[in-house]
Amino acid sequence: MAGSTEVYRASATAPVNIAVIKYWGKRDAVLNLPTNSSLSVTLSQSSLRAYTTASCSPTYPAEAGDTLTLNSKPQDIQASKRTLACLSDLRALRRNLENANPSLPKLSACPLRIVSENNFPTAAGLASSAAGFAALVRAIANLYELPQSASDLSRIARQGSGSACRSMMGGYVAWRTGVLEDGSDSLAEEVAPASHWPEMRALILVVSDVKKDVPSTTGMQATVATSALFPTRAETVVPARMTAIETAIINRDFPAFAEITMRDSNNFHATNLDTWPPTFYLNDVSRAAIRLVHDINRAAGETICAYTFDAGPNAVIYYLEKESERVIGTFRSILKAETQGWDGVFGDAVKHIKSGIALENLDSRAVGGLREGINTVILTGVGEGPLKVDKHLVSEAGEILDRAI
Ligand code: PMV
Repeated sequence: MAGSTEVYRASATAPVNIAVIKYWGKRDAVLNLPTNSSLSVTLSQSSLRAYTTASCSPTYPAEAGDTLTLNSKPQDIQASKRTLACLSDLRALRRNLENANPSLPKLSACPLRIVSENNFPTAAGLASSAAGFAALVRAIANLYELPQSASDLSRIARQGSGSACRSMMGGYVAWRTGVLEDGSDSLAEEVAPASHWPEMRALILVVSDVKKDVPSTTGMQATVATSALFPTRAETVVPARMTAIETAIINRDFPAFAEITMRDSNNFHATNLDTWPPTFYLNDVSRAAIRLVHDINRAAGETICAYTFDAGPNAVIYYLEKESERVIGTFRSILKAETQGWDGVFGDAVKHIKSGIALENLDSRAVGGLREGINTVILTGVGEGPLKVDKHLVSEAGEILDRAI
């Protein structure tokens, strides 16, 4: 490779995932080892995705080191221990390949130039770190032609952001807590592919809230340190629910899946209220969404939708496609006509649906609260894991491209 001017490039996209059994609590903050297992649904990349090009070249200036540009803004990579940990593990795997096969170009010795974009609506306040780290790890693994499986690579993504390990694959994904101190058994595993239960849909109600939430790392460490409810959650509640929800997924049993999802969201937020001083992620609009989901299920006479909330006020409502009329119809008749986001492939499929369950069956204050509190929705469904893409955000000559994704 000496004297080579080649720019090596590889690109990947990665999805968002929304947990139905929440990760909350670290037993090791450096390695991002959790106190309990968790399980999520990978969401379709047609709606939300991170897009990353990893490139390297002997022509890149060594003194600049590895660089990362995110949404057109250069990032201080040295300030992000988590990014450095991912890069160092990926480089070590490449170095092993090069040592075993000296004919391979010595990519591990070249600086990396990484460019990443995501297509999340800026006002949405959705955490993008899971998709971002999953795309970064997948793109570099492709660049280095690493033979490791998605599960193997999930250990590396986990160090970027815990929940990122679950974005390394599609469908229904478990993150096994593991018991080893080095974290080698704390990884993501596919419970079922998206094709097993492709009818799963997710309606994200984006709650406009100017207040910045307590960051997840700070919040979870405070909960572990101070909540008396937390040990019961980690040791008893979650292990039983993991088994039960995996069974519900295998059997495509929506009522069971939905009840466990809602109870786990409530249990997770209960440990936040029990944190000292308490942390509040839900607000009045979130509580209106909770009330309405219970009212819809009561009026329907069966469980047709389920809410879940991460470390913020946005509601994610899971339901099955066959219930679009009753679920989407109801939310559409509650929300203002000018609500943004009813577009894309999933939105187009329900364009004709204007009404569902009659609003007089629902709590009128909750209807008013949701109507006033939501201006944007994202309608999506279960989807695939990271994908290799051929369009790069870095040119053949190594320049960063401004490319709409
Ligand atoms: O991966 P982090 O550090 O952003 O934490 C995510 C925590 C929750 O979103 C609240 C739950 C989860 O399992 O995704």
